[in-house]
Amino acid sequence: MQFASRLDNVETSAIRELFKLLGKPGIISFAGGFPDSAMFDVEGLAEASRLALEQEPGGALQYGATEGYDPLRQQLSAFMKAKGVAVDPSGLIVTTGSQQALDLLGKTLVSPGDKVIVEGPTFLATIQCFRLYGAQVVSAPIDASGVKVDELEQLITEHKPKFVYLIPTFGNPSGATLTLERRKKVLELAVKHNTLVVEDDPYGDLYFGGNAPPPSLMSLTDQVPGSRDLVVHCGSLSKVLSPGLRIGWMIGPAELLAKATMCKQFSDAHTSTFAQATAAQYLKSGRMPATLATVREVYGQRAQAMGAALKRELGDAIEFTQPGGGLFFWARLTGAGGRIADANVFAKRAIEKLVAFVPGAPFFAEKPDLATLRLSFATANVEKIEEGIARLAQAL
Ligand SMILES: Cc1ncc(COP(=O)(O)O)c(C=O)c1O
Repeated sequence: MQFASRLDNVETSAIRELFKLLGKPGIISFAGGFPDSAMFDVEGLAEASRLALEQEPGGALQYGATEGYDPLRQQLSAFMKAKGVAVDPSGLIVTTGSQQALDLLGKTLVSPGDKVIVEGPTFLATIQCFRLYGAQVVSAPIDASGVKVDELEQLITEHKPKFVYLIPTFGNPSGATLTLERRKKVLELAVKHNTLVVEDDPYGDLYFGGNAPPPSLMSLTDQVPGSRDLVVHCGSLSKVLSPGLRIGWMIGPAELLAKATMCKQFSDAHTSTFAQATAAQYLKSGRMPATLATVREVYGQRAQAMGAALKRELGDAIEFTQPGGGLFFWARLTGAGGRIADANVFAKRAIEKLVAFVPGAPFFAEKPDLATLRLSFATANVEKIEEGIARLAQAL
């Protein structure tokens, strides 16, 4: 077969290869990026889908507008308003997961050879998606407080990127959260260099211990004159409600949303109207706050358990910052006492001990750090987390 030359820029991810090994019986997996299926509010969603069919069968089962189903756009506008972002329903478009928003950004903004700055490390699918459109993906260093803004400014000056892509809150895979001070600085940089900043925010609602993260970049645009039209915000119901619904949204400058809508028309015409009507009924039902409280509580306990077990079982062989939300621990092997410092080697040995995680290297667009790894605490319960981390210690 003769495939399009754009595929030359993208290779199958090393992570996919690892996932093939996860079917082994008895394995405890910290490798996935999924929420726990046991968290899904099945009863609430069943009721929402029933109401969608009964009350609005025309809307829920017919073709719909590419921009999104109006009742859902209204609900999402209210959802965002509660999080400090004033946006009219017409100021957002519904996407098929936030993944589609990222794809539409690639389609509408990236010409072959354009530069895009991302965090090092960042969400792997984003790197692949932007590369598919021919982007040269440049990596900006981060620490536990998110992207390092001075380095980011240097890179913006040097590369003049088409846009900067950040996951400022509980990053995947980093778990890092950009501080308030750095958030404001990022917005100032956007204005100073007239650079578009994409804020991908699927995890912001998943915070632990009642400690909400700093406000989103989009909500802070009020405080930095000239920044609102330089920020694109991508949201998702995947991690808090259900990824199978495939409901995401994008807020951004009207001209960008218009082009993205045109491109979406060619890709899926519109996001499933049934899923949109169900999501709209769900948000309207008022169940969301209780659902959020449950996921925050359960994932918070699991994150605690994983942090404590890592300290207890792996000691100085590993370093990490306890995440305040999201689904992931990002850790680094220190090699202390002559123990393994390469996460790929460690991952293979761990699978022999029936425990899995993802080595960190593929999450870097440039200069991979081979000592890093990502562990998800979302799908295993506390008991399994403790058992799995104990097995990890045996693999070291
Ligand atoms: C940072 C980030 N962005 C986007 C997505 C895509 O999520 P969805 O398309 O389900 O909204 C994910 C999923 O893992 C993610 O981690």
